[in-house]
Amino acid sequence: MSSNDHSNVKSHWHRRLLEGKSAIFAVAVTVGISVGGLVEIIPMYTVAAGPEQLQGVTPYTPLELAGRDIYVKEGCYNCHSQMVRPFRDETLRYGAWSRAGEYQFDRPFQLGSRRIGPDLHRVGKKYPDGWHWEHMKDPRSTSPGSIMPPYPWLYEKTYDVADVQASMTALQTLGVPYSDADISGAGQALKAQSDTIVANLASTGATAQGNEEVVALIAYLQRLGVDSRAALDARDGG
Ligand code: HEC
Repeated sequence: MSSNDHSNVKSHWHRRLLEGKSAIFAVAVTVGISVGGLVEIIPMYTVAAGPEQLQGVTPYTPLELAGRDIYVKEGCYNCHSQMVRPFRDETLRYGAWSRAGEYQFDRPFQLGSRRIGPDLHRVGKKYPDGWHWEHMKDPRSTSPGSIMPPYPWLYEKTYDVADVQASMTALQTLGVPYSDADISGAGQALKAQSDTIVANLASTGATAQGNEEVVALIAYLQRLGVDSRAALDARDGG
């Protein structure tokens, strides 16, 4: 009798009651896997999904959103990150380190993966509008030796109200709280905010109409990090 021959040995209960009865075993396995699955799936639908929300972080205005689309279109993220890491050298240079909740309305977020230029997550209000106007036209005029390319076409091309509304509608579908009135009123909101920037630019001698792409991009850059900066700086102490 070979050592593998168990015919005379009383087989193990597991073999008799489970493995020996394939239909029952299949049911038992299904039940077992389902319980394991449900334990993981149910919390996903019951607990509020997503990162912890940060108070004071609100969706972009239509003009800022238009600027954001231009930022993505021009590939600014190839040279600029939008994530301050929790290291002393970074917080001294850029301010409070970035929190997940700050990206709540960034779809997709612009973390970036390279820093050929500086991080931009907290660049909002660091410079006046006129600085960005000059910088984007000719980076070396404001930052001697800069290797950032000039973007002259942003001063000729204009943004389109319907495009901005389409972006807002898409984000609304994804849960960003734009109301239908926000979307239908986007034209006025664009005009109002761009008028302010045009006035700021005029005070530095630059003439803009307000519908140039660069104006939207300035609105976006000036918003970056502004919502959360005050609260976070107070919390971290720099
Ligand atoms: C080839 C890489 C490169 C690209 C692409 C690029 N930048 Fe830059 N950017 C830089 C470098 C380098 C600097 C630092 C020198 C300077 O101020 O120009 C900089 C600086 C900046 C600053 C000032 C940041 C600060 O805190 O002083 C802003 C704002 C900025 N870039 C915005 C943009 C925007 C918007 C775009 C896309 C339209 C863009 N950049 C594309 C390389 C790049």
